[in-house]
Amino acid sequence: MTKLKEWVGDSLDVQTSEFRDILLRGVDLLVDQYQQIDDQLGYHYFDPAEVASWFDETLPDAPMDLDELFQLIQDKVVNTATGNLGPHMYAYVMSGGSQISLVAEQIASCLNQNIGKWHLGPAMTEIEKRVVQWGADMIGYQHQAGGVMLSGGSAANLAGLTVARNLFFESEEIRRRGLFGRKPFTLYTSSEVHGCIDKSVELLGIGTDHIRKISVDDQYMLRTDELRSQINQDIADGLQPWCIVGTAGTVNTGAIDDLDALADLAEEYQMWFHVDGAYGGLAAQLDGLSSYYQGISRADSVAIDFHKWLYQPFEAGCVLVKDWSELKRSFYKKAEYLSTDFEGDGRLNFNEHNFQLSRNCKAFKVWMSIKAYGMKRIAAMIKKDIDLTAYLADQITKSSDFEIKARGPLAIVCFSYTAGSQDPALVEHLNKRLIPALESDGRVFITGTNIHGEFVLRACLINHRKTKASVDHLLEVIRDVGKSLLD
Ligand SMILES: Cc1ncc(COP(=O)(O)O)c(C=O)c1O
Repeated sequence: MTKLKEWVGDSLDVQTSEFRDILLRGVDLLVDQYQQIDDQLGYHYFDPAEVASWFDETLPDAPMDLDELFQLIQDKVVNTATGNLGPHMYAYVMSGGSQISLVAEQIASCLNQNIGKWHLGPAMTEIEKRVVQWGADMIGYQHQAGGVMLSGGSAANLAGLTVARNLFFESEEIRRRGLFGRKPFTLYTSSEVHGCIDKSVELLGIGTDHIRKISVDDQYMLRTDELRSQINQDIADGLQPWCIVGTAGTVNTGAIDDLDALADLAEEYQMWFHVDGAYGGLAAQLDGLSSYYQGISRADSVAIDFHKWLYQPFEAGCVLVKDWSELKRSFYKKAEYLSTDFEGDGRLNFNEHNFQLSRNCKAFKVWMSIKAYGMKRIAAMIKKDIDLTAYLADQITKSSDFEIKARGPLAIVCFSYTAGSQDPALVEHLNKRLIPALESDGRVFITGTNIHGEFVLRACLINHRKTKASVDHLLEVIRDVGKSLLD
């Protein structure tokens, strides 16, 4: 292969045979990834300056030889990629994607539909509507849900809180008049809430001074008694309680708040009830877990995230609300160039229901995965992740050199490597040193967090390629690297 050459007329396209060769080259690269997936390192350590140097060039006017380009991609992008696909990733909330989604992404990218207006992507628009409804079904959301696919959990929470703000103050025409001159309103959530709620409150002009972070109990669930006192206090202080945000799967430990109790309080005080289900929402479909999610269906808005526990590649978040009209009332803007005056009825135009105009079809990969695998098999993978997490917790408990620190009902375990020491200060110091040491080692990728003021390791297992052997490998590698730090 050399440079692109067999042009189709005066365009950027090349003739079919050349195009096919390039596509197959890409396909080979992808298939190779899957062939080596079990051996994929968790992380490849490089100095940032070195990585920057690989790509440090001025804007290239001339084309590159395709052999060289593919080699560059293989060496510097593929072979250095963080191991999100493989079973040795435990950091943050990283799912391993799926083969079917990969094919879907290629098809979607080829068709280049714009899901901003119905007639720019009729089938993809209807598919997105269907996936929104399936997402609602998965969490047992009983409303005739409206919803929209967004980049991820952060965007879905921001969208949910935007609807909450715009509708709660709709009669005051807040979209037109802004927040100027009105009395402050307050949002209530737990101290374990994800940082995107803070960011959303900042972006919405409410200010983080108006977030009340309620403390959590020993299960890391929001204390509802404290919540009630805080609401009463704020009312007495002349503030306006506005929104309760419950979390269905906290990022630190996977705790699920008592959503029914939060819904009761929201109802009693006539507040908006939003649930951040970005991490844990989709596990609500598992029979054995439904009791944890009681009350989620009473939420006014819910953020879910298919690029977490539905094994989709980034990006695939989704916000759900009780019906489509709520989204339209929050986001619709008339624009002559988007007029639907000359179009038939029954078309749902996504640009009227969210902030973005041009949008790719994030729902397509979700739809194709669910169709190809069937929901039963996907749900079985979620269950397997939870079972493997129980196995990991069990191995930790049985060991004499690890200690469990927190364990929610989902697929996160917080723990420490103690090396057999009973000295908390020494253990904490050792675990802090483990993070960069494990990064340089690269065999597994795990990060830490702070719970109740203590630094701990945190493993999140949402990858259908994990096995008991890969979980054992995690502890072996930590032990190995930990010991080397003690030498
Ligand atoms: C509970 C929770 N909410 C929100 C988010 C943010 O999601 P995203 O990274 O897709 O923006 C995360 C991410 O891990 C999360 O765990």
